Amino acid sequence: MLHTPPSAREKYLYLETFGCQMNVSDSEKIVDLLKEIGYRLTQDSSQADLIILNTCSIRSKAEHKVYSQLGRYRELKSLNGDLILGVGGCVAQQEGERLLKKVPYLDIVFGTHNLHLLPEMVRAAETGERSAEVAFIDGEIRLDLFPAVDAGAEVSRFVTVMQGCDNFCAYCIVPHVRGREISRRSADILSEIRGMAKRGTREVTLLGQNVNSYGLKSSGELDFAALLREVARIDGIERIRFTTSHPRDISPGLIACFADLPKLCSHIHLPAQSGSDRILSLMNRGYTRGDYLAKVASLKEARPGIQITGDMIVGFPGENEDDFAQTLQLMEEVDYADLFSFIYSARPGTRAAEFDDELGRREKQERLAMLQSQQRERTQKRGRSFVGTCQQVLVEGNSKRGGQLTGRTSGNRVVNFPGDCTLVGRVVGVRIARAYPNSLLGELI
Ligand code: 5AD
Ligand code: SF4
Repeated sequence: MLHTPPSAREKYLYLETFGCQMNVSDSEKIVDLLKEIGYRLTQDSSQADLIILNTCSIRSKAEHKVYSQLGRYRELKSLNGDLILGVGGCVAQQEGERLLKKVPYLDIVFGTHNLHLLPEMVRAAETGERSAEVAFIDGEIRLDLFPAVDAGAEVSRFVTVMQGCDNFCAYCIVPHVRGREISRRSADILSEIRGMAKRGTREVTLLGQNVNSYGLKSSGELDFAALLREVARIDGIERIRFTTSHPRDISPGLIACFADLPKLCSHIHLPAQSGSDRILSLMNRGYTRGDYLAKVASLKEARPGIQITGDMIVGFPGENEDDFAQTLQLMEEVDYADLFSFIYSARPGTRAAEFDDELGRREKQERLAMLQSQQRERTQKRGRSFVGTCQQVLVEGNSKRGGQLTGRTSGNRVVNFPGDCTLVGRVVGVRIARAYPNSLLGELI
């Protein structure tokens, strides 16, 4: 068989994404950018000419995963000397040049503000040059460095409205690796969504580390509530979601949107992190348990039946039995539809990394197990409460189980049901027949 020189054949990109939705969104941009220099996405890493890991460093476990994955790709590199290996995202941002030294077979390190430099870096790597680019680029111009994502006709899409975070919660690495908060221009966001609606998108999720402070630092821009009201006016968009909210920054204006905008879904992700005032203050969260519960009550009043989900950290330095008991109690009062919970993980460079962390690993694990078992019961009870009801479901596509469609309720529960693929993109009535731990099963009405 004739050997085809690399320039004459298609080049393949294998992209692995770790962590949050922000990384998923960045990965879409990476695919777009690299398409322009001839790389097509492949699902088979052994076929790749270029492998990129888009990394997460929110907890040490996430970071370790990156290093073990890099170890695996070392083997592929030894089989194919031309293979280019790149690391982006939060670990890359944190480590910069050091990562090139630590991992001698790595070619490219690019930070969270440097996606636009990637094509150039890949070209250089094709000629054997290794490089690291992790400078933060501040100012409004940064967001305009990204090309508009060539959105397909997906029913539900994420739209980045802001990047970075200024909150500096004591445990959190995000402000250190994603930089200062910056909002996109409202006009750009709205025109992007209008374009998506024309191509068939029916649901948008506005995305940012702290969407509630959208626009507040850029003069002349809409604030988040006003942005939601404008998105709701776009024809074709039937559902609007947003994530993530900071409880301190939920304004009465935003809560009013839940009363006024039928397109706004009946779900909010509102991470409390702890139910103890003492710990919330050590975490630098800027609200008390009472403030949090008052906002939850207003949300429930504005939108009866709203599904509230959250994040919780156990074993933060100094958390005692009483603090933990308050967390469990808060969970009961809020009655979360679902909850993501984590053992505190010290992140280098954050304020809490300096705190004395005296609680043993075992106690932390016990607290997490207790919290999770209580929430599991609550989540399942909530699931069972839907059995027999009729839910409006936006059909997103075929479910992983063959022959069924999948979609979500306004409250963000996954519903699978038998049906024809012509229903994709439509909101249909589904009667719920069974509740599983992570989804509901129903039939079309
Ligand atoms: N340790 C454990 N959990 C963390 N989170 C953020 N930083 C840490 C940390 N250092 C959790 C928070 C946040 C979610 C995305 O991850 O609950 O809301
Ligand atoms: Fe991290 Fe706090 Fe910012 Fe969320 S609000 S990204 S937890 S610093």
